This record gives sequence, C-alpha cells and structure tokens, in this order.
Amino acid sequence: RRYDPHRPPARVFALITRDAKNLNQELKPKPEEEKWKLALLQRLTAIANEVFGQAEVKPFGSTGNGLALANADMDVCVFLNMPKGSQEVSPVEFVERLGDRLERDNEFQNILQLKRARVPIVKLNHVNGIACDIGYQNDLAIWNTHLLWTYCRIDERMREMVVVIKTWAKRRKINNPYMGSLSSYAYVLLVIHVLQRCEVLPNLQSIVPGNGKIPYWDCQEFNRYFFDDLSNLSQYWKPTPESLKQSVGELLYEFFRYFASEFRYITHVVSIRCGRLLTKEAKEWTKEQQQHQRHQQEQQQQEHQQQEHQQQQEQQQEHFDHPETSPSESTQPEGQTPMDTKPTVRNRYLFCIEDPFELDHNVGRPVDRNSLFTIRGEFMRAAKLLSKNGDGAISRLCQERE
Ligand code: GTP
Ligand code: MG
Repeated sequence: RRYDPHRPPARVFALITRDAKNLNQELKPKPEEEKWKLALLQRLTAIANEVFGQAEVKPFGSTGNGLALANADMDVCVFLNMPKGSQEVSPVEFVERLGDRLERDNEFQNILQLKRARVPIVKLNHVNGIACDIGYQNDLAIWNTHLLWTYCRIDERMREMVVVIKTWAKRRKINNPYMGSLSSYAYVLLVIHVLQRCEVLPNLQSIVPGNGKIPYWDCQEFNRYFFDDLSNLSQYWKPTPESLKQSVGELLYEFFRYFASEFRYITHVVSIRCGRLLTKEAKEWTKEQQQHQRHQQEQQQQEHQQQEHQQQQEQQQEHFDHPETSPSESTQPEGQTPMDTKPTVRNRYLFCIEDPFELDHNVGRPVDRNSLFTIRGEFMRAAKLLSKNGDGAISRLCQERE
C-alpha cells in the first residue's frame, strides 16, 4: 500500500466502523416492505400474463442482490415464453402494451414508458409507495444481480460498505445517471473493485475448477461464467490474514482515498472481471479511438447508402419489369440502420467502469465533465472527513447536499 500521510489512527477507524454498523441497522428494509414487494411482484406477474400470455417476472438489482436500503426501488424483468411460431414482441411494443394496460389500473401512478432508453423500461409508482422499474427479457441483468449477490455472501463487510456508500451518494446527489452521475450499480462495482484490491474479495470470474480454462457460457452474446459454488470457494481462494483484520471503517476510508487520489481517471478502467485496472487504450475507450471508430462507421454508412441507392435503382428497374412488387418494401426496417451503432454523446468515457459481462458497456458512461468534477470533489470531501475525527464522521459524510 502507498504511504498515506493522512491515514487516521485505529481509534478513528473503530468509531467509523461503529457508526457504519449503526447506519446499516437503521436502513435495513423492514419485513413488511419485503412482503409488499412480493405482493407487487405477484400482481405484475398476473398483469403480464393477462397482456402477453405466458409471462414470468423476475426481480433484479437491489431487489435480488441483497443490497437494498429501506424504501429502495424495485427492479423487475418480464420474460415471455411465447408459443413457438408466434410473433416476437419487440422491447418498444412490450413497453407500450404493458404501459397502456397499467394506465388503466388505479393501483399504479406516474407511469412512464421509456422506449428510447438503452434498455427500454416502464417506470411506475405503486399506491403503497414502492417505485418500480419493469424491464424486458434482460438475462444479463439477472446474471449480474446473481454475481453481486454472490460477492455479497462472501464477506458481510461488502454489504456494510455498500449501505454507507449508497446513502452518501444519494444524500450528496451523485446517484442519478439521468443527471450525469453514477447509478447504484456503478457504485457497487467500485466497492467490489476496492475489496478485490484489498484481498477481501476474490475475482469470481477467473476462478475455474478443473483445467483452469474459463468456460464460455453464452448470454446475449456475452460470457456470463463465474464461480458461484461458495461452499467450495476455500479450495480455490482464501482472504489474506491482513485483509480479515481490516474493519469496515478502514475499508471505507480506503475506498474514498483510492478514488480521491490514486485512481487515474484519464487512463484507468475499473474491471471487476479482471480483478484489476485496465487501460482505456486497451479497451479502445479513448477519444481518438472513438473518433477513429466514428470515422469508420461514417465511411461504412456512406458505402451502405451508395449500395442502397444502387439497389433501389435496380429494384425500380425491376419494378417496371415486374409491376406487382413495390420498391418501398425492400427498404431497411426502421431502427436497423448503421446509425444505431454510431457512438453518440451518451457514450462517454470519462469515468470508466467495465460491466462484468457486457464488456463493451461503460457503466460510468452518464458521467460528463461537470459531474466528474462534482463526483471527484465528493470523493475528496469524504476522504478528508474520514481522516479526521471518527466521531460523527458518518453522519457528516452523509449530510444532505442542497
Ligand atoms: P438501488 O436502486 O439504489 O437500490 O440500487 P440497485 O442495486 O437496484 O442498482 P440500480 O438500480 O443502479 O441497477 C439495477 C440493475 O440494473 C443492476 O443490478 C444491473 O442488473 C442493471 N444494470 C445493468 N447495466 C446497468 C447500467 O449501466 N446502469 C444501471 N443503472 N443499471 C444497470
Ligand atoms: Mg434499483
């Protein structure tokens, strides 16, 4: 570990640990909340069945990974088991049909159909106060929820840290991807990264029993393999004796110190899949590479347009030869032009956090220059606060920002 002149003494860590544990107790979801969520899950399953036929509704995000705070949103995903030969329901159609059905029910309020999001969803509030996001056929979300849940089971310090960090991020207003800051999912990946560095957690995606070759388990064209046989984990990985001694207070300080002063935002990429840092260069997540890609895509697009133009001319010619076919029928279906793969302003690489399965997805992509400045400022504020007096540090840390 680097020499750190600001590192506080053990008694400060003991106080931070005590307060972090108290906050965990305070913010634990109540049993009745879990009951309401289960009832809502059943209700949504019945509605999805009514609208689409055979439907299954699975919880994901903090509803399924064990990292929920009291009154957390509920994330669920609908899977349709359509009979063979029947027409597939597109994500946009799913959002429209389900959204329209929910509109007719007084039980649900503030229904939003987000059809253009990277992952289309329906957002709503249930009258009992639960906010809910409903996604569609997203197996990867189910698997990354299972991955986070598994990490959480290995060491309880992970959950204790996540509760403090989520609370801090919410109260300091840096937990809103729609406003340019990071999602809770992103913060959890950052916590796992720091805990892997401190040898509190292993890298589950690289543990392979047998011949040591990582198997390929396909999920939406990504490898979803990870080691989840926790009863046999000790055969392959053990925490170091030093890591077992680290208190939650110490680990929290390390988390903030690391992102305030060690992590290199300009070059580094957090990767829990590799259990270490990667570079933007290696991931092709630099501005130059993006420009290069964009240039290539524009060229492809031009070629494509030329081809299309030529095809249309040929078809028009054919049309005159065979008047029963219409040239307009042969045009590209909407939403499948090469434009869709073109990097947009939403694909930013200022704070780079690799998704553990979707390797081309930067979970930190909502972050822009301004929000990066704010988030880094908050990491610095937090590290400074925790390095001083431990008493009351957690409540100062989580003080609401105006
Ligand atoms: P809270 O809602 O704050 O309780 O946290 P959460 O654990 O539910 O996390 P969040 O709502 O940010 O994310 C929910 C789930 O969406 C994650 O567990 C992932 O399965 C999935 N997800 C995948 N990629 C992304 C991404 O880029 N952003 C977000 N927000 N979610 C993603
Ligand atoms: Mg959530």
